[in-house]
Amino acid sequence: MAKRIVVLASGSGSNFQNLVEYSRNNKTSFEIIGLIVNIEGVFAIERANAANIPCKIVPHKNYVSKPEFEAALNQEIENFAPDYIVCAGFMRILSAEFTQKWEGKIINIHPSLLPKYKGLHTHARAIEAGEDEAGCSVHFVNAGVDEGALIGQAKVKIENGETEDSLAKKVLVKEHILFPKCLEALCNGDVVFQGGKAIINGGNQLICV
Ligand code: GRF
Repeated sequence: MAKRIVVLASGSGSNFQNLVEYSRNNKTSFEIIGLIVNIEGVFAIERANAANIPCKIVPHKNYVSKPEFEAALNQEIENFAPDYIVCAGFMRILSAEFTQKWEGKIINIHPSLLPKYKGLHTHARAIEAGEDEAGCSVHFVNAGVDEGALIGQAKVKIENGETEDSLAKKVLVKEHILFPKCLEALCNGDVVFQGGKAIINGGNQLICV
């Protein structure tokens, strides 16, 4: 049975759409059964409608506190009865209570070569620092921001004259290759979460594309 995946997103949703298409065009161990967004009107909602994927909106702004927002979010997630939660451009920091509840069951994609450049504005910071490469990472989510065990990474070269925009575009192309590969490995048992660590194909070699 394919693993049931709920995606959390806050914006464009290109990773969400890519995962949907990947699962529909390939023999995968996962299917995307729902999308939850935390901002009304974002483009990800249109993508879900176009793909016929149920979408729930849980606007964080409507809740007076983080625990209340997370309770509502958690309820919507549980309604989908997912095997795994995938954060794809989901721009809320989740509490320790939330991440502990879903430990080993929630992954994220981050646009940097972690552990470098956690947080925001990763591409601008990488260029500013004179790095010659950048990329993206897929990791389990824990209570630290962009700190959970790594599953996979993809690299791109930073060229002379690279801008934040041009780098973001190049990295996004890699995200669309890396994310389905990592999710497939998680869902078919090639990646296992154990004691806070990711066991990848029985070892610790990251999935690279
Ligand atoms: C991606 O770069 C992701 O790594 C970052 O936000 C962006 C989301 O893009 N966290 P999209 O919404 O999937 O198009």
